[in-house]
Amino acid sequence: MLSRRAQKLKTSPTLFLVAKAKELQAQGHDVISLTVGEPDWPTYPCSVEAGITAIKNGITKYTPAQGTIELRKAIIQRTKSDLNQDYTVQEVAVTSGAKFAIFAALQVLCDPDDEVIIHSPYWVSYPTMVELADGIPRIVTCHEKDSFKITAEALEKNINEKTKAFLFCSPSNPTGFVYTKEELQKIATVLLKHPRVHIISDDMYHRLMFDGSVRAPHILDVAPELKSRTIVINGGSKAYSMTGWRIGWAIGPQKIIQALGDYASQSTGAPSSISQAAVLVALQSAENEIKETNITLKNRLAAAMREFKSIPQFKVFEPQGAFYLWVDISSVNGKYYQGQKLESSQDFGKILLEKFFVATVPGEEFGNPGFLRLSFAIETKRMIEAIGRIKSLVDQLTIG
Ligand SMILES: Cc1ncc(COP(=O)(O)O)c(C=O)c1O
Repeated sequence: MLSRRAQKLKTSPTLFLVAKAKELQAQGHDVISLTVGEPDWPTYPCSVEAGITAIKNGITKYTPAQGTIELRKAIIQRTKSDLNQDYTVQEVAVTSGAKFAIFAALQVLCDPDDEVIIHSPYWVSYPTMVELADGIPRIVTCHEKDSFKITAEALEKNINEKTKAFLFCSPSNPTGFVYTKEELQKIATVLLKHPRVHIISDDMYHRLMFDGSVRAPHILDVAPELKSRTIVINGGSKAYSMTGWRIGWAIGPQKIIQALGDYASQSTGAPSSISQAAVLVALQSAENEIKETNITLKNRLAAAMREFKSIPQFKVFEPQGAFYLWVDISSVNGKYYQGQKLESSQDFGKILLEKFFVATVPGEEFGNPGFLRLSFAIETKRMIEAIGRIKSLVDQLTIG
């Protein structure tokens, strides 16, 4: 009954965990969720006010499908000060969330069987998005020794005549690792040899950095020559804590952006006029808030890292940006909890949720079994309580 396209949609195993967490909460259990990919702090007051003002002033109608000229200009200014790159309004398309910007970019780039290089661990949606564009996700597994980042050698090995694009994000969801300028330089050197390959740079977390820098290094810093085939993705969701406002954008070569805008105009239509007005103000006046956010996240991270020292069976990889902890829990495989053998990180996640009321996302979701992703966009007290419960489970595991 369903189309082949619909059959490509994989039901996420996390959905089970999320549904289960809700069920347990409804039964009155004190569930701590470390699954969410969103900030726990409110949208900054300047954007909230701008949203309310937009409603009151009747900014409640369709806008151009590619977004208002005012917001596109604000995005251009922001991108100029962040990346030091110049763009025109024709090279910016505002979309209903950054997820749709990536989705639409793949739709307008891929022909059937074109390959898109993605490296694992990857953000959960990338492979399916490529498949829905009739492309083939070419997954390159990355290793701990490379901080779970793709090396220039691995990238080069995986480029062939079918390669249409290389899609990556830095800081990474799920690891929080950031590509250095040197690594980007090597990657750029490979990409410069392959002019057919487009680059989709997902910058969703690039303002959330713990080393005091304003943003993560960028491929265009080291190779501005790639600009004519790079699509930069960003949005309001993470740094501006505006996940529910659903505003993202794609910036890049006019021809691709025009097609992406046309694709959006025939599918979602224009993004919310109210949200666009609110994001515009965020882009212009939330710099101090972002600084404070980074300090808060850094403190939360330090507390979580300290707490995890009490679980030497796990290896926690300290992130440089975003708000996720990537934890190697492979040492629990083959152990038992009350007679039940643990075969995977999913098994661990299930017991952790059902018996200890802590929800996490197993590594299988990101293409890397043996790991867990934990969001630390949560109050430190709750995070510490959650890690304590994880320790209780680990302490109760037996070898037979
Ligand atoms: C890596 C990455 N890219 C893109 C997005 C999409 O963000 P949104 O659609 O909320 O703007 C997310 C959200 O979780 C993400 O983690």
